[in-house]
Amino acid sequence: MKAHIESLVEYMQYLKELGYEGFPLSSQPQEQKTVPVSIQTDDKKISLENIRLAVEECKKCRLAGMRTHAVPGEGNYNPQLMFIGEAPGYDEDQQGRPFVGRAGRLLTDIIKAMGMTREEVFIANVIKCRPPDNREPMSDEIAACSPYLFRQIDTLQPRLIVTLGRYSTTTILGLQEQTRMSDLRGRFFVFRGVKVMPTYHPAYLLRNEKDKKLVWNDMKLVLQELGRPVPPAKVR
Ligand code: URA
Ligand code: SF4
Repeated sequence: MKAHIESLVEYMQYLKELGYEGFPLSSQPQEQKTVPVSIQTDDKKISLENIRLAVEECKKCRLAGMRTHAVPGEGNYNPQLMFIGEAPGYDEDQQGRPFVGRAGRLLTDIIKAMGMTREEVFIANVIKCRPPDNREPMSDEIAACSPYLFRQIDTLQPRLIVTLGRYSTTTILGLQEQTRMSDLRGRFFVFRGVKVMPTYHPAYLLRNEKDKKLVWNDMKLVLQELGRPVPPAKVR
């Protein structure tokens, strides 16, 4: 043993020689972890953060060169409910957050009318970077980007998914892009064991106010399926 111990590493080495295999790094009592649940939650968090980092660095399609910020998605890591939109618009690209523009405010109102908050659901898009001039996503962009969304769904394991609009619905359900939303909305499908309710996109509702009541009907079915109370309020 050296006469002087000059570093923590040396001190730890010294303790090890004396037979100590390990010791707490702080004097606080170690947190008692209920093993399966906490490990699962930590793993989930790590997976979701890894997806976020991968999206922020991604250059798998042409949209990478045009973005201000990628928009991986945000919300609760143990959500009952997940909303999936199409692609970021101008405001989302500026802020790196999903659904924060005009359509986003309507989605937030819909979530509130359901008696829920943005913080308790997860909100994501099929395409993580803004298409120029808000054009529709191209099929090679959807093919390049959708694996991120599928990994998010597999990790989050929500009880239920609401797909907003045609691109999100047809990507999740593996249908032809031409399929009409009026033929899809209002009933449940299943994707990888998760129930899916297709409904109209909030940006469409801004142009077609009269269809808000159809979306509210769809959201009432979602709340019933989740066993949650159905508030009397309508989406205005
Ligand atoms: N429209 C979308 O589909 N997603 C957003 O994040 C914003 C607008
Ligand atoms: Fe990558 Fe998706 Fe962004 Fe294309 S849109 S660069 S695939 S994250």
